[in-house]
Amino acid sequence: MSTVYKKIPEHIAFIMDGNGRWANKRGLPRLAGHAEGVMALKRTILACKKLNIKYATFYAFSTENWKRDKKEVDGIFNLLKKYIAKKDNFFIKKKIKFNVIGVLDPFPDDLRTALIDTIERTKDFDDTLVVTIALNYGGRDEIVRAVNKVIQSGVEKITEKEFASFLDTKMLPDPDLIVRTSGEERLSNFLLYQLAYSELYFPTTYWPEFNEKEVKKCLEAYEKRERKYGGVK
Ligand code: FPP
Repeated sequence: MSTVYKKIPEHIAFIMDGNGRWANKRGLPRLAGHAEGVMALKRTILACKKLNIKYATFYAFSTENWKRDKKEVDGIFNLLKKYIAKKDNFFIKKKIKFNVIGVLDPFPDDLRTALIDTIERTKDFDDTLVVTIALNYGGRDEIVRAVNKVIQSGVEKITEKEFASFLDTKMLPDPDLIVRTSGEERLSNFLLYQLAYSELYFPTTYWPEFNEKEVKKCLEAYEKRERKYGGVK
């Protein structure tokens, strides 16, 4: 029997943490953790679709992740390429709308082309889950880029709502729930402007073990939260 939730989040943002520790625990290289992380990403996307979540956003590569070993960075890009480069890729087959936030300029040409091609080929899928992957993304970087766009536009004064339209996430509602796996309890520069009123949830599960059951636990936690947006009940 399927569970009926009192309320579900319209938008969940995930910080996929713990790939390295998952691999370490098994005596495997860190990249094996990222490869398993891709499997968890697919499972989580399908679970979100099944559970009628409208938007799911995933932090895959931050502006700070360039500090990692080149082998690890290249390995993550290769996984991403393998996942996205096929003409008939996961998002197209499953009819899921695909988006990217962050700055794609430093990525290899073939990867950038594959990402843009998938955005283009899924843009008309209606009434389906919208998946956004954050790549070379940082919340502060996004805010500063937005401020520069505002300056370039020549306006002298703008509202919060107008400012949000200069952010990478202009097409998304703010996340209702943010989930960071692996027991770490930090935002690490993710969606800083958009998370102002989001509920936070920190399961201890490492990302490679994340699955539909874990998504349901997130929904159960969210259902119990009382959102007040600074007001009183
Ligand atoms: C955090 O775990 C994870 C990352 C920085 C990379 C996330 C990447 C993937 C899930 C796979 C590639 C992405 C796509 C979209 C195909 P960590 O490495 O910081 O783990 P640790 O804290 O245990 O070391």
